[in-house]
Amino acid sequence: MSKILFVSSEAHPLMKTGGLGDVSGSLPAALKRLRHTVRLVLPAYQQLKARAGKLKTIATLKLTGTEPVRILEGVMPDSRVKLWLVDAPGYFDRPGNPYLDADGRDWPDNAERFAAFCRVTVELAMDRAGLNWRPDVVHCNDWQTGLVPALLAREQERPATVFTVHNLAYQGLFPWHQFAALGLPADLWHMDRMEFYDRFSFIKGGLVFADQITTVSPTYAREITAPDLGCGLDGLLRHRADRLSGILNGADYDVWNPQHDPLIAHNYSASDLRGKRLNKAALQQRFNLPPADQPLIGLVGRMVEQKGIDLLLAAIPALMKEKVQIAVVGTGDKGFEAELCAQAKRYPDSIGYHIGYDEERAHLVEGGADMFLMPSRFEPCGLNQIYSLRYGTPPIVRRTGGLADTVVDATSETLAAGKATGFVFDEPTPEAMLGAVRRALALYRQPKPWQQLVTTAMAQDFSWDASARQYLQIYAKARA
Ligand code: ADP
Ligand code: GLC
Repeated sequence: MSKILFVSSEAHPLMKTGGLGDVSGSLPAALKRLRHTVRLVLPAYQQLKARAGKLKTIATLKLTGTEPVRILEGVMPDSRVKLWLVDAPGYFDRPGNPYLDADGRDWPDNAERFAAFCRVTVELAMDRAGLNWRPDVVHCNDWQTGLVPALLAREQERPATVFTVHNLAYQGLFPWHQFAALGLPADLWHMDRMEFYDRFSFIKGGLVFADQITTVSPTYAREITAPDLGCGLDGLLRHRADRLSGILNGADYDVWNPQHDPLIAHNYSASDLRGKRLNKAALQQRFNLPPADQPLIGLVGRMVEQKGIDLLLAAIPALMKEKVQIAVVGTGDKGFEAELCAQAKRYPDSIGYHIGYDEERAHLVEGGADMFLMPSRFEPCGLNQIYSLRYGTPPIVRRTGGLADTVVDATSETLAAGKATGFVFDEPTPEAMLGAVRRALALYRQPKPWQQLVTTAMAQDFSWDASARQYLQIYAKARA
């Protein structure tokens, strides 16, 4: 049995901005179910502390360059995974988003904040906080934790390190003067270590120094070793290819299951879909759409270029001719938000858009829409399409990353074989996306094959167990 220190900057249900939160909430729980010992380390954000229930101070650390930091111990609400919070109030006790201020700009002290988080994690990993617990493996996630493998690499008798890339496009890049102010070992500023085109790159700490690197789907693991999606790091990843693998994210079916989801108006299952039709009515109402008898396309996601929001915007005039309704929940780029808002005003009977982060609406879209759109330009894994499958809301996705690994395109062959689960298109263009939407609409008009598609989608199983076992193999390799 391994002892695993799982390090992340967010974890559902305590703090979540996207899929990283889902994964960090559910993978540690899956590892625990497989009888491994897990401690989850998170920053003690203000909101998170308020939601975490009972916490007790178990250590106080004084590190050079940071204020005294307390370690608070608690448990994750549902899974009872043991939780260690890094309580550095100057860095984390502030309202709102973990990474952005109220205007959507990066907090100006992000380098300092996450460097402090990483340094404290290293002390925990080396059992220097007086807690008498030493992990075998430290599993780090995304750039916010990238310094951990880099600093641990300098230690004698250290635990093994695994670094998971959830999104290579977010790298944690900072100018020299901010690096200099961190008081880190000067040799990290080197192109073979953490310097990247004259900036300090947190993610390189993970990519260069971790014993094993993973990413969240097999296809994305291949894609990031090529220039197109390599974000300038493909050379480094090719160099470390023998240490890189892709493990598909799992879904937490305790949270995402139409049979007992408390956030949808009516529960339902593959054998009785009446609730789904009622949810559609509830969804239309919630988004101020008339109860029209038209196919309803849902989209939930960060409103950023990655998600292909521009493709949706460009396709709206053509979509309106198809007589569909569209319901969107999402926040992000202010330009995309404003444009979609304008379209919703222009077509009030057809487009409903909720700007913001809203879990209830996100679940209702999964439970009430007829199909789910994810036209991502790239997608390391993607969780919403996996949830859509379980909710019988066939996904329309671009063939990239985890979308390619989880959705089976409806062709005459896959339909005949009972294998089709959604609609897949290749080119990142509005026309290609429209082609897939039109195929979906054509099938929707044929109740029998549509019903078959929905049933096959709902039967797909992406639960964590298999993926958690693959992580255990990676931990073993990292330790070897
Ligand atoms: P990413 O991590 O790139 O944002 P994923 O598909 O992996 O994409 O995960 C996104 C997660 O965040 C899903 O659980 C989704 O429901 C949730 N989510 C994204 N945007 C919103 C929003 N505006 N309101 C509620 N939940 C959201
Ligand atoms: C990232 C990716 C998304 C992935 C999630 C969890 O935010 O954009 O594709 O599902 O991390 O791994």
